[in-house]
Amino acid sequence: MNRIKLHDKYFRLFIPNEKIEESIINVAEKLNRDYRNIPNPLFLSVLNGSFMFSAHLMKYLDFNSEISFVRLSSYSGTSTTGEVRQMLGFDRSLKGRHVIILEDIVDTGGTVVELYNMMQRQQVADVKICTLLLKPEAYLYSGKIGIDYAAMEIPNDFIVGFGLDYDELGRNYKDIYVLDK
Ligand code: IMP
Ligand code: MG
Repeated sequence: MNRIKLHDKYFRLFIPNEKIEESIINVAEKLNRDYRNIPNPLFLSVLNGSFMFSAHLMKYLDFNSEISFVRLSSYSGTSTTGEVRQMLGFDRSLKGRHVIILEDIVDTGGTVVELYNMMQRQQVADVKICTLLLKPEAYLYSGKIGIDYAAMEIPNDFIVGFGLDYDELGRNYKDIYVLDK
């Protein structure tokens, strides 16, 4: 399909499935090299968006690892710092673990950096960020927190498909679509 309609908006084909899969294989090859000698790394796949990326990535990994699917609570606390979020879905200790955060997309970086900081507080051995998509122009933490693995870089446009949604629709499409203005 070249064009899809989600709610009130139209999206046009942007990245075909073959190209997405190829970029995932490239990232998997890097991970296979980097994690060959690391004992029991733990992938934390951030729901909902990264379910499809995570499943496709895992097929190409040839080292032993664990995966857990986590979600950030959107609970707003009443502390003085404003919104207090926590990670749900992984209740064991992360201390000493080699963690790889799996994200669908890093935009401003707010979400992934929050998770990154949570990991550090739990005294992980190491935490790396692995994302299907990165919007370098929007990322606010370059020079501070590096994005270790990005399968694809895209301009600052709104996209859907391959796990990504517009108001919960569009996650099922195998290709990636961009907002048709
Ligand atoms: P960030 O915290 O600004 O990096 O944004 C991260 C979250 O916003 C992602 O996990 C997505 O859920 C959502 N997001 C950012 N850009 C897009 C997009 O282009 N399409 C769909 N969701 C997006
Ligand atoms: Mg997301």
